[in-house]
Amino acid sequence: MDRRKFLSSVALTSAALALDSEARQKNEPAPSGKRPVLISSANGFVGADGGYAMLQRGFDTLDAVGFVLKVQEDDPTDDSVGLGGLPNEEGVVELDACVMHGPTRRAGAVGGVREIKNVAAVARLVMERTNHVMLVGEGAQRFAVAHGFPRENLLTERSRKIWMLWRETHSDQDTWGPGVSSPDWKPPVPVPPLKPQALKEKVDDLAVRAASLGIEPDFRMAAAHRVLFPPTGTIHCSVVNEKGEMSGGTTTSGLAWKIPGRVGDSPIIGAGCYTDQDIGSAGATGTGEECIKICGAHTIVDNLRKGMTPKEAALDALERIVRNHNRSMDKIRFLSMQFYVLRKDGAYAGVSLWSHDTDGKRRKFTIHDGNKRFEESAYLLEGTPIDWPKTPDLNAKSPANA
Ligand code: GLY
Repeated sequence: MDRRKFLSSVALTSAALALDSEARQKNEPAPSGKRPVLISSANGFVGADGGYAMLQRGFDTLDAVGFVLKVQEDDPTDDSVGLGGLPNEEGVVELDACVMHGPTRRAGAVGGVREIKNVAAVARLVMERTNHVMLVGEGAQRFAVAHGFPRENLLTERSRKIWMLWRETHSDQDTWGPGVSSPDWKPPVPVPPLKPQALKEKVDDLAVRAASLGIEPDFRMAAAHRVLFPPTGTIHCSVVNEKGEMSGGTTTSGLAWKIPGRVGDSPIIGAGCYTDQDIGSAGATGTGEECIKICGAHTIVDNLRKGMTPKEAALDALERIVRNHNRSMDKIRFLSMQFYVLRKDGAYAGVSLWSHDTDGKRRKFTIHDGNKRFEESAYLLEGTPIDWPKTPDLNAKSPANA
């Protein structure tokens, strides 16, 4: 999408922001009446068959959710979750997760956990083996170790190299990166005045540095993108079985390069996940801070309770995010938010703030109702977000707005 088209889509969608009841009425009701159903973020596709088979065989609904989440936590190539998750600014992987069990109306969560890979399972143990709902940091880690979880280094070589690429290039104000004795050393660009560098140049420079760090050729552009636009990743999964029992869960390594101790929406009951056995289950991926401020998953389930369809319920939550920024497109285009909604009767929706991701690809989610597939997410705004930070300037032609 070129910049003019992007801006016109922003203008067009500004009108869509005033999404009124008339527009809502155009939303088709989601398919319903079919159970079991499993919904997840797109990266849940891998584990969806296994999770669905568990629902069919009568396993507890939280077993099925746990299976789907664990597949991604164990996968070193998913750098948004578990092993291989992108680390905090100090190069340490910190994981967050929560689960909710509909039939017993219980919840468990952990935040800022280091060296423990399967944090969704730890969150479940907090729910089942304590009188608490949430443990964080060192306490959560000790709790996991006490329950037999191994401590392991979660930083894969690939994630370490991407972090190093970020660390060496995000600032010329410190001593990271090659020093004056290096043949490649160049004097820092004076600040101010700092002439904004075209994003293309910046990406090319990052790709060269990625090569020098040993990042494999076909991953260098992706690594550059992760450096410029720190991703939030995450996997959410909600399920309902044939009997109408529900569970949900969310697990993540959170925002890449975050300040140590930062916790996003994923482990917050009511933000990254909420399951109400009487109504439905919802979860989120994307800019966690925005979801926390509107209690995203709880808001959606409460909207279902009031009679909205899954799609309407999520669109309303997204509108609250937009409203929180006074509908300013200068701000909203730096945000990313995806919701996954499952009503007790099997009706579902995947709904995104933006129609496309920062790579210009149409937003999708995973659905399994006996037939596993990706479906394109409904959306509030047509266009492509530009993830924070705005590097190097809004007017540069970039993969995000090209
Ligand atoms: N949505 C994941 C996070 O912000 O940490």
